[in-house]
Amino acid sequence: MRKIKVFDTTLRDGEQSPGCSMNLSEKLEMARQLDALGVDIIEAGFAIASPEDFKSVEAISQTVKNCKVASLARCTTGDIDAAWNAVKGARYPRIHVFIATSDIHMEYKLKMTREQVLESIAKHVAYAKAYCDDIEFSCEDASRSDWEFMSKCCETAIKAGATTLNIPDTVGYSTPQEMFDLITYLREHTPGIDSCDISAHCHDDLGMAVANSLACLRAGATQVECTLCGIGERAGNASLEEIVMALHTRREYYQMETNVVTTQIYKSCKLLSSITGVPISPSKSIVGANAFAHESGIHQHGVIANALTYEIMKSTDVGIPQNTMVLGKHSGKHALQDRLTQLGYEVSKEQLDEIFVRFKALADKKKNLTDRDIMALAMANSRITETHAYELAGHLVSTGNDITNVACVRIRKGEEIFEDAAIGSGPIYAAFTAVDKITGVGATLEDFSLNAVTDGEDAMGEAVVKLRFGDELYTGRGLSTDVIESSIRAYINGINKIVASKHSAD
Ligand code: KIV
Ligand code: ZN
Repeated sequence: MRKIKVFDTTLRDGEQSPGCSMNLSEKLEMARQLDALGVDIIEAGFAIASPEDFKSVEAISQTVKNCKVASLARCTTGDIDAAWNAVKGARYPRIHVFIATSDIHMEYKLKMTREQVLESIAKHVAYAKAYCDDIEFSCEDASRSDWEFMSKCCETAIKAGATTLNIPDTVGYSTPQEMFDLITYLREHTPGIDSCDISAHCHDDLGMAVANSLACLRAGATQVECTLCGIGERAGNASLEEIVMALHTRREYYQMETNVVTTQIYKSCKLLSSITGVPISPSKSIVGANAFAHESGIHQHGVIANALTYEIMKSTDVGIPQNTMVLGKHSGKHALQDRLTQLGYEVSKEQLDEIFVRFKALADKKKNLTDRDIMALAMANSRITETHAYELAGHLVSTGNDITNVACVRIRKGEEIFEDAAIGSGPIYAAFTAVDKITGVGATLEDFSLNAVTDGEDAMGEAVVKLRFGDELYTGRGLSTDVIESSIRAYINGINKIVASKHSAD
C-alpha cells in the first residue's frame, strides 16, 4: 500500500467560500478536530491576508500537536515573512509559496513574462527555504499552463529548495485523464522531481474534483489537497471524506492508504456544518443524512438479507452514531459522561455541568435522546456558552398569516430581568427586534440559518446568526427543540459576543 498524505485546506481555501468564514476560536476548534481526524497537513490560512488571519494561523500552529501546519504565501518577501512568523511556533511548520504559471494568468493578472516568473520562483522559494525546511510550491492554474514551461517552473522550485510540488486545477477545468497525463508528464520530464512529494489540488467547477484528484494519485501523486464537505472557492474543492473513503473502500484497486481515522469523519463534517451554519445536503456522499438510508422496498429486502447487497461501506466506519435510545430524563451525570466519552468527547467538569443542564432541559421536552442528540449538545456546548451577559428567560410570540406578528421577550442580566415587546414581518424578526430594544446593541443581521441537527418529529433545531457590528462579523448559535427559541438564543448569543468584545476593547 502506498501512503498518501492528506493536506486539508478547509481553513484556507474552504474558509474563502461564501458563508464559511470562521472566527479564531472556531478555527481553533476545527483545527483540533482535524488533528484528531489524522490529516497530515493543515493549511491554517493566508497569514498576510489580515491581522485576524495571521493570529489564527499563529494560534493553530501553537495548538496543533500532530500535523504539520502550513500558511499560504504569494511570491513576495512580505507574504513569506508573514507566513513564517505565523507558523514558526508549530511543531512541524510549512510555508506554501505559489505563483500562477498559465499564460492567461501571467499576462493579465501578474503582468509578468515567463522569464520573470521563473526568476521569481527561484528567488522566493529560496527566500522561504532560508526560514523553513518544509516548502511547498504551487503552480497556480497548472491545468491550463504550458506543460514544458511548468516543468521548468517545478525544476526551478526544486533547485531552490521546494520539497512538495502542488499541481492545482485552479478553475476546475480539467478531466481525470488530462490530470493523469499531466502528472505523468511532469514525473517524466522534471529533473529532481522524485525527491519531492507531488500534490493534487482540484476544484469542483465541473463536478470532477474528486475524480481528478484520484487520477493524480494513480499517476503517482503522493499528496492530495482537500476540504471537509468539499467547501471552497466557487463550487468548492475536492471533498476529503470522498477521497479518503474511495481509497479506503477500493483499497484493493487503488493500493493506497491514508492516515485518516475514518471514524472521525462524520464528527468532523458535522462540526464544520455547525460552525459555519451551512447544512450538509441530505444526499451528500459519505456524510449526508440519506447516504446510508435505504428507502425502496427492494433495497430494504436486500439489505436485511445481506447488507452487502446494497452497502459498500458501513455507516459506523465513518463514525455515524447508531440511532439507539441511550439516555432519558432520569439519567444522571455519570451516564451522560460515559456516553460522551464513548462518542469521543473529552469534557472538563465545567463543560459536563453545562452540557448536563442542557441535557436535562432537552430530556424534559424530548422523550428519546439518541446518540445524535448527545453529539449535538456536546458540539454546540463549546461555542454556545462563551459569554453570558444576557440570558433568555422567556418568550411569547403571536403569529399568523393575516395578523401582525408580535413577540414578547424576557431577558436576564445578572440579577435584573428585562422585558419588551415588538412587532415584525415574522415572529423571529419580531423577537429579534424585542431583543434589540432590551440590549440596545445596534447590530445588523447579515445571515440567518436554521437546521435540524437530529432526526424525528422532536428534532433539535440549531439556529446560526451572523451579526455585523462595525467591521466585525459575529456568529451566534442557539439550540432547542423549539425553532423560535433556538433563533432567539442564537441572536442573544451573537449579541453577547459583541458586548464581550466591546468590553475587552474598552
Ligand atoms: O486553487 C489554487 O490554485 C490554490 C492555490 C493557491 C494552491 O488554491
Ligand atoms: Zn484552490
